[in-house]
Amino acid sequence: MKIIGIIASPRKEGNTAWIVNKILEGAKEQGAQTQSFYWGDLDIKPCQSCYGCKQGDRGCVVDDDMQKLYGAIEDADAFILGSPVYMGQMSAQAKIFTDRLFARYSPRFSPHFKEEKGAKKKLILVFDQGNPDSRLFQEYFDYTKKMFQLFEFDVKDVVVVAGMRNEPALERKELHAALKDIGSSLVSERFQE
Ligand SMILES: Cc1cc2nc3c(=O)[nH]c(=O)nc-3n(C[C@H](O)[C@H](O)[C@H](O)COP(=O)(O)O)c2cc1C
Repeated sequence: MKIIGIIASPRKEGNTAWIVNKILEGAKEQGAQTQSFYWGDLDIKPCQSCYGCKQGDRGCVVDDDMQKLYGAIEDADAFILGSPVYMGQMSAQAKIFTDRLFARYSPRFSPHFKEEKGAKKKLILVFDQGNPDSRLFQEYFDYTKKMFQLFEFDVKDVVVVAGMRNEPALERKELHAALKDIGSSLVSERFQE
């Protein structure tokens, strides 16, 4: 099983990266092949609204590092999208990534998508935030889950890690096992069906 993590935070050693990597560590321990992609290492433009992805069978025609991610997502059984909460929503980086998934949602024209129809890509959404109340943005998290489902992703879990303002994720001992469990569940039966 292949699982990739997309870290849509500008901080390579920040909370989002640490949390996503902990989940991947749990998956790896169960035998999964894992890989992390850090936003700062990638050059990804916002969607140009050119509709090039709908005009042929090439998918997105913007030639940047998103092409690596399209390939990696197709190749993976599941992916984790990690984003810090910025102003009550996903980061701008996560939104750019999400908009670029529009190219993938072109069932009439995308050969990748056609081959895969019926086998929805598994996704875990991860949000981390400074505020200690993990339910503060619940409506937004629910909405975001629904949006990804609408675009044919099989959202297995929405993980919200709150309270980063007081203590970075790395120092929260109780998080280590809980996050690794989420990763191992992705490989084991709980998330398979
Ligand atoms: C621009 C910006 C906006 C933020 N907005 C919120 C917010 O609305 N609610 C919140 O709880 N935390 C907010 N935070 C705090 C981050 O979500 C939190 O520190 C997160 O863990 C940072 O992730 P990182 O370490 O990967 O950068 C914000 C941080 C920044 C830089």
